[in-house]
Amino acid sequence: MRQFWKLFHSTALTAMVLVILFLSLTTAASVPSDQIFQYIDEHQNEYVERLKDWVAIESDSNDASKRHLVMNMMLLAEERIRKLGGTVEMVDLGMQELPDGNKISLPPAVLGNITKDPKKPTVCFYGHMDVQPAKIEDGWSTEPYTLTEKNGNLYGRGTSDDKGQVLAVLNAIEALQKHELPVNIKILLEGMEEVGSPGLNTLIEQRNSTFFSDVDYIVVTDSSWLSNKPGITYGTRGVGQFFVEVECAKYDLHSGTFGGILHEAMSDLIFLLNTLVDSSGHILIPGIYEAVAPLTEKEKKFYEETEYDPDQIKAKYGIKQFLNKTKEELLMLRSRCPSLSIHGIEGAFSEPGTKTVIPAKVTGKFSIRLAPNMELSVVEKQVTDYLNKKFTERNSPNSIKLTCHRGAKPWLSDTDELQYLAARKAIKRVFGKEADFIRAGGTIPIATQFQDVTRKSIMLLGIGGPDDAAHGQDEKISRNNFIEGTKLYAALLQELAAL
Ligand SMILES: *[C@@H]1O[C@H](CO)[C@@H](O)[C@H](O)[C@H]1NC(C)=O
Ligand SMILES: *[C@@H]1O[C@H](CO)[C@@H](O)[C@H](O)[C@H]1NC(C)=O
Ligand SMILES: *[C@@H]1O[C@H](CO)[C@@H](O)[C@H](O)[C@H]1NC(C)=O
Ligand SMILES: [Zn+2]
Repeated sequence: MRQFWKLFHSTALTAMVLVILFLSLTTAASVPSDQIFQYIDEHQNEYVERLKDWVAIESDSNDASKRHLVMNMMLLAEERIRKLGGTVEMVDLGMQELPDGNKISLPPAVLGNITKDPKKPTVCFYGHMDVQPAKIEDGWSTEPYTLTEKNGNLYGRGTSDDKGQVLAVLNAIEALQKHELPVNIKILLEGMEEVGSPGLNTLIEQRNSTFFSDVDYIVVTDSSWLSNKPGITYGTRGVGQFFVEVECAKYDLHSGTFGGILHEAMSDLIFLLNTLVDSSGHILIPGIYEAVAPLTEKEKKFYEETEYDPDQIKAKYGIKQFLNKTKEELLMLRSRCPSLSIHGIEGAFSEPGTKTVIPAKVTGKFSIRLAPNMELSVVEKQVTDYLNKKFTERNSPNSIKLTCHRGAKPWLSDTDELQYLAARKAIKRVFGKEADFIRAGGTIPIATQFQDVTRKSIMLLGIGGPDDAAHGQDEKISRNNFIEGTKLYAALLQELAAL
């Protein structure tokens, strides 16, 4: 009997140990992040070479004469997705009418589908393959379309915005596939983001009940961090563009002949522009702050925890003083409050030297960044009523004409959505840090478009740093961000699968 119990005991113990061993082995096998991270490290030079090939294509969507290069870029992306074993559809987006009336083809959108197991979650990545214009004469230190590595940074147009980030996603998928891709992947890439994504919204609408129907999470790569701390963006501001035109004569006039005898358009315009914002940055248009979403406790905590160094930014850009002092106040002003900026005056004399001209017609251009919950149609009415009232007070015989260009709407997501949790865990795993939760001051129209049409969970997760100069000279991504960012996307997909 004792013998039996002893034997039973040890068999049970052995079985238990085996079960535990088996369980730990299987969980390790489904999340072998060390091996995947090691694989990514070992292949980093290959990833940089791929980025070099992508950067070499001048896929400038602004310049119609470069349209074939954007097309080539879309084909290169298609080829990369096919190599991952996915099916790819190149979707014709129709024609673009140029300012001279000519029409040219829009580059096709790329729809990639790597679906292996319908029971697994499906993650859809969005990114763009076109770039802003860049010429070495603009003041670049290196050839913009030749990827150049210097001091740990990879310089070149598109390295950060957005070729490098898209490539990091595709490289992460490839690395995961060496073991097992834990989720299904869909990819939407476009070639006209930098000029407002013509045709894209229609595509999303048309494919809502097919391509997007089984998508669980949408991840937009086209964003960057606020500091060297990795950040997840959960909100953006919208924008409305305004034009106010004042005309005082049919022809430009000589100030020696007409100066002192008429109401000048330029003086009227400057008067109007100067009624928009006071010296503390407060917008003077009545009602403009009414719709702004109230500050929540959770949000307040994000501002406190976010890394953002006003002194360093002031020093870098040569700014004497910001309108408010603390990091928290500045973060709120740039992301959760509206702002009004005056950009320029068309028709004004702006060359060096003197010209004694009275411009006949001038157009002031300003924009309002819209905070979440603000509606452009409401803002447009508020601006129109206010400027008309101010102009009446001015008592000028001239007339004003106000126009507003439809801009993008603001976007705000909920950081409690599951994919935010997954991204937060992935950041912790790769970088050993808590993520910053960012509300971007800029505008990412695609986020609102996805939200309005698909009604899916949307998150902005880029890997570019705060000083990558996305649209400027010497655009770069650091090798570290490119490679660790590849690990981040791999870890994100694993965390999403484990939810
Ligand atoms: C994606 O691929 C899977 C597997 O090949 C297929 O069943 C599914 O219909 C595809 N979906 C789309 C929208 O192409
Ligand atoms: C798009 O499809 C989703 C379901 O996947 C649905 O909830 C949503 O209402 C659809 N959008 C439109 C505009 O039909
Ligand atoms: C910025 O400072 C002004 C006072 O100068 C204050 O009224 C305002 O509330 C501050 N803004 C924020 C977002 O803290
Ligand atoms: Zn971009």
